[in-house]
Amino acid sequence: MPSIHLLSDLLINQIAAGEVVERPASVLKEVLENAVDAGSRAIDVQLEQGGVRRIRVADDGCGIAKDELALALERHATSKIANLDDLERVGTMGFRGEALAAIAAVARTTLTSRAEGSAHAWRIDGSDRSVAPAALGAGTVVDVADLYYNTPARRKFLKSEGTEYAHCDEMFRRVALARPDIGLQLAHNGRVVHRLPAADHARRVAALMGDDFLAQARALDADAGPLRLSGFASLPAYSRASRDAQYFFVNGRFVRDKLLTHAVRQAYTDILHGNRHPAYVLFLELDPAGVDVNVHPAKIEVRFREARAIHQFVFHALTRTLAESGASLAARDEAEAVTTTTASAAYAPEARTQDERPRPFGGYGNAPPVQGRLAMESASRSYFDFVGTAREPAPTAIPAPMPMAAGAQDFRPTAFAPAAGRPTTPVATALPQHADDSAPLGYALGQLHGIYILAQNAKGLVLVDMHAAHERILYEKLKTVLDGTPSVQRLLIPAVFSVSAKDMAAAEECAEVLAGMGFEIAPAGPQELAVRAVPVLLANAPVAELLRKLLEELREYPASEVVTARRNELLATMACHGAVRAHRSLTIPEMNALLRDMEATERADQCNHGRPTWNQLTMSDLDRFFMRGQ
Ligand SMILES: Nc1ncnc2c1ncn2[C@@H]1O[C@H](COP(=O)(O)OP(=O)(O)O)[C@@H](O)[C@H]1O
Ligand SMILES: [Mg+2]
Repeated sequence: MPSIHLLSDLLINQIAAGEVVERPASVLKEVLENAVDAGSRAIDVQLEQGGVRRIRVADDGCGIAKDELALALERHATSKIANLDDLERVGTMGFRGEALAAIAAVARTTLTSRAEGSAHAWRIDGSDRSVAPAALGAGTVVDVADLYYNTPARRKFLKSEGTEYAHCDEMFRRVALARPDIGLQLAHNGRVVHRLPAADHARRVAALMGDDFLAQARALDADAGPLRLSGFASLPAYSRASRDAQYFFVNGRFVRDKLLTHAVRQAYTDILHGNRHPAYVLFLELDPAGVDVNVHPAKIEVRFREARAIHQFVFHALTRTLAESGASLAARDEAEAVTTTTASAAYAPEARTQDERPRPFGGYGNAPPVQGRLAMESASRSYFDFVGTAREPAPTAIPAPMPMAAGAQDFRPTAFAPAAGRPTTPVATALPQHADDSAPLGYALGQLHGIYILAQNAKGLVLVDMHAAHERILYEKLKTVLDGTPSVQRLLIPAVFSVSAKDMAAAEECAEVLAGMGFEIAPAGPQELAVRAVPVLLANAPVAELLRKLLEELREYPASEVVTARRNELLATMACHGAVRAHRSLTIPEMNALLRDMEATERADQCNHGRPTWNQLTMSDLDRFFMRGQ
């Protein structure tokens, strides 16, 4: 073995570069963060060939004094911390003092800077550390050219220009999302890709994530003691097939953290299908002493002192925000101090209107044709049957039922009869005066093909997917009921149905679980089960069908697992089978009862599978469609 010797500085830095300078995007990250730490108001980034050929970042920050230029390129040289105490409550992006040294060891690097109060700028050449006067108004320009020119082995790992550029772009977005107060520009191969003036959070988020995202996201701003969570999280309708639009910042630093990701994921479990992903830009702020950022050279991982508390806080803040249905939000007095608002409403009122406009009308055309037989049958099984309690809504709240098929003249109040020509909308006059205040989702007009409820509210027409809406209501009700002892409805005549041997075994093994949910089941023969009692909420559901489905699910899991982890899945199954089916005709009071239930239910905007339950067609949407006033 050769003798032991100290490595040269260059080699040490090249080794360190392996951790810090993984690719052009990591150079960009370090240099951008330095510009941010320098208190810059405007930062200009120029890339060539995906950043491999050149990364040039100009800022208007505090600059570096001439006699510190050489030091800035030294390893372990920093102006940001001085002792352990500083390290434990670091408030800057950088603090390790190794980035510039590492970059200068693997690329042709120059630093041009003019410190405040200096007569002119100075430039240092990273290769020979020579310093010479230079021209620059203020701030610092870092120029990094020919990455890995002297380390060909690493150069081979670089991907195509397009890929490296994409990584740089992503890095730029992270910094830009974290700091909307800084004006930022990015050009690639001479073409400006992002031009972002200093703005507020909503505007910056819209510029980088798209107006679409903002229109379909909820803004949140929650705090609990020293913790604060703010930002924007997408509603389920905006879910995506990949995790590409997820940004979490801790004290302004982009992080990928299992704990935080898990808390977010959990907040979406009930409202998002498993293989869809939410989009979000979230900012967690806490005392720097509560989080260790010195876990990873690139500082993308962090460690929390109070991990559990943070998880809970993030989960609850997000769950609360997502649970507010659009209807309940609409009902709320805007003047009230609200921590949660629809993001688009805070940013651009028009965006919300766009969001509410459904796809082209053709989208509603694929409903199955009405079948006389089904419609007849359904009359007996109605929404009131399903909710179990035949509530009579206050009579003043119910508009007189409108015989849709009847001739308009028959029921139009004479006072509103049109003088001639254009007919007025007759239903409007029958509605309560303040439909908007008391009933955001409005009042039912009728049912469309046994599938959709049509209702009128202050803004125009509301379309409700009857089954999806009821499914969500049932699901939420079942959840709260099962937290206590479920109220049970004994069946006058037990429902007997045949099952397979496997289902029989599952029924026996899970009798206790089922009893806990409100089902009383006993064998009625070798391959027959009798149901004697069901949860009140499901009193009118198709019992046999529902239990077969439940047993099928129970079969696959040990009882203990079912009670805890899979309870909500079972509830979802119950809700799906218990919910009012398409083609059941509902009376107007029943439809209104469903609308009121939706308003009172958390997360009522989506069914358990993340599909929307209702949609608004505003008067202006309709006017546009009919080209009125054009
Ligand atoms: N754009 C800049 N403006 C002002 N000072 C800078 C800039 N970039 C780097 N510096 C100075 O150079 C030092 C070394 O930078 P760096 O190697 O990235 O380490 P760190 O950021 O961890 O301190 C910084 O501490 C800072 O004082
Ligand atoms: Mg740095």
